[in-house]
Amino acid sequence: MDTAQTGTMELLKSSTWELHQAVEGHEFQQSLVKGVLARDRYVRFLGQMLLIHTALEKHLRNTSARWPFCQVIHNRLYREQLLLSDLDSFGVDGRRIHAADATRSLIAEIDRLGDGNSVALLGVLYVLEGSTNGGKWIAKAARKAYNLDEAGATYFDPYGDQQRIEWRSFKQRVDAIDLTDALKEGVVAAAREMFAALSRICDELHHEPTPASSNERTEAVAPARRCPFAHGPL
Ligand code: HEM
Repeated sequence: MDTAQTGTMELLKSSTWELHQAVEGHEFQQSLVKGVLARDRYVRFLGQMLLIHTALEKHLRNTSARWPFCQVIHNRLYREQLLLSDLDSFGVDGRRIHAADATRSLIAEIDRLGDGNSVALLGVLYVLEGSTNGGKWIAKAARKAYNLDEAGATYFDPYGDQQRIEWRSFKQRVDAIDLTDALKEGVVAAAREMFAALSRICDELHHEPTPASSNERTEAVAPARRCPFAHGPL
């Protein structure tokens, strides 16, 4: 694809399409979205997302006043507090989360980009912010599966009925940044690595031993290749 002629968001979407399909169709994500993932595994996933957001948001806060982040960042993008309170509602102290190996590697990569003030952090942010699109469905399934009221799944649905508006606004802000081709390529590479790392984290959590108390119904989940909501190619 011609990077010069293509908007950053369109480029991100088309250049990461197969990696999004892979993570979205991952057995772990499918169990999540169907509400059949064991509660302990769900909480474990929230914990990994907390570690990832904490790492990313530390760098974003440091750099939010600088170009190009000043054109994109606003407070609603930060998820650390939501994750802490979701975990707290399960009785889990967010400061005592054990990182999966794949999470640790991803955090090292985020730190490498952040310490170098790299614009490529935008690619990491894109993947996490974009996940609010499917997150709405995950939140709905989790509320039902784990009998949640308010807290417990706010991370997945931070915007409620404003999600489409917030996503459109995010896309417009990113597209308004005048990035060189080289910077765009760096952003795309970081987004691709982010998707791949999330798949590795799902692999690792999926293969961790199931807690004895689990009511997980893994046999009900066939490995799916695409989103159960049949929204067409992303
Ligand atoms: C870790 C898991 C996931 C990540 C990181 C992720 C990431 C993303 C990203 C970055 C986008 C934006 C694509 C774009 O327009 O540029 C997106 C869109 C979307 N995702 Fe996912 N996703 C994940 C899992 C899922 C799951 C499990 C589902 C199934 C419910 C799903 C359904 C969707 C939908 C419906 C859209 C909106 C497509 C559109 O309207 O254009 N995602 N996701």
